[in-house]
Amino acid sequence: MTNEELSTMVETSDEWIQQRSGIRERHIAAEGETTSMLATKAAEAALADAGLTAAEIDLIVLATSTPDYTFPSAATQVQANLGMHHGAAFDLQAVCSGFVFAVATADKFLTSGSHKRALVIGAETFSRILDWKDRTTCVLFGDGAGAIVLEAQESEGGLQARGVITSQLRSDGAHRTKLYVDGGPSSTQTVGHLRMEGREVFRHAVGMVTDVIKAAFAAAEVTAADIDWFVPHQANRRIIDASAEKLGIAPEKVVKTVDRHGNTSAASIPLALDIACRDGRIRQGDLVMIEAMGGGFTWGAALIRW
Ligand code: ACO
Repeated sequence: MTNEELSTMVETSDEWIQQRSGIRERHIAAEGETTSMLATKAAEAALADAGLTAAEIDLIVLATSTPDYTFPSAATQVQANLGMHHGAAFDLQAVCSGFVFAVATADKFLTSGSHKRALVIGAETFSRILDWKDRTTCVLFGDGAGAIVLEAQESEGGLQARGVITSQLRSDGAHRTKLYVDGGPSSTQTVGHLRMEGREVFRHAVGMVTDVIKAAFAAAEVTAADIDWFVPHQANRRIIDASAEKLGIAPEKVVKTVDRHGNTSAASIPLALDIACRDGRIRQGDLVMIEAMGGGFTWGAALIRW
């Protein structure tokens, strides 16, 4: 759905949307197409890319705020779609930070030795919870899914070893009303619509994101100059640019896909990773910083040796 199409639905313009957010277009799931369907396609693509089958996976962590149903989890739907009857599958809800939280969670399972190979998925159908009459929110979000496979391997650890080097997760529930959905099973018994004080979110975003990335830099004893790629949550070009600048990350290291996907919440980082891997930017051995901030507030960062 392009900005032009949106401007026939609400009073907005391509110019306003591009200038304020950097978004040119977003994708909307087809009628009847659910989050678990998008997630299954992403999972199948990730498995093919890794040269693995579902039989070799023993953990599915699916980050989403827009599951098909209140329960069962979308993760178990993906598990069924992949023909898996073994292992464990669960959803993880940290809104736009969901993928970073899911990567960190899966990493802990793998490094503890309890599981061997994890599918980590970010999948959303935010189009289903948007108020399509509210121009301050509906122009910013889109649908999508992306996935990666993490595998436990023996290593010496440290900065050169492949995998998650450090993950830093934060949340502060005091900010609930700045970005929330006004419905749910236990409150209104409805699904509800996304509500956001955009300017307030913007005001907090850059500081929170840069703080948690600095914590990741400190934990791994690296600097902005050491990382090869910065793959932030794709909420807004201005937040991405301001964060990169404040951290001293060179513009050519920043992967930006917000123009073609809009804000796909937990799906935005794996979608961006997919594009940057396919076009040859991210290669094995590269040092990749992912980060996100979202409803809650939640925020976090993970440094990965690809
Ligand atoms: N089209 C045209 N005009 C609009 C639109 C629109 N779609 N939406 C709002 N406006 C108008 C407003 O009504 C306002 O008009 P007024 O001055 O006459 O009152 C004017 O544009 C400016 O509105 P602001 O809200 O001040 O615009 P701002 O420059 O702050 O940009 C935006 C708004 C894009 C939402 C910005 O605040 C932002 O990016 N915030 C962060 C949002 C975000 O990234 N959220 C997601 C992060 S967390 C997660 O991913 C779930």
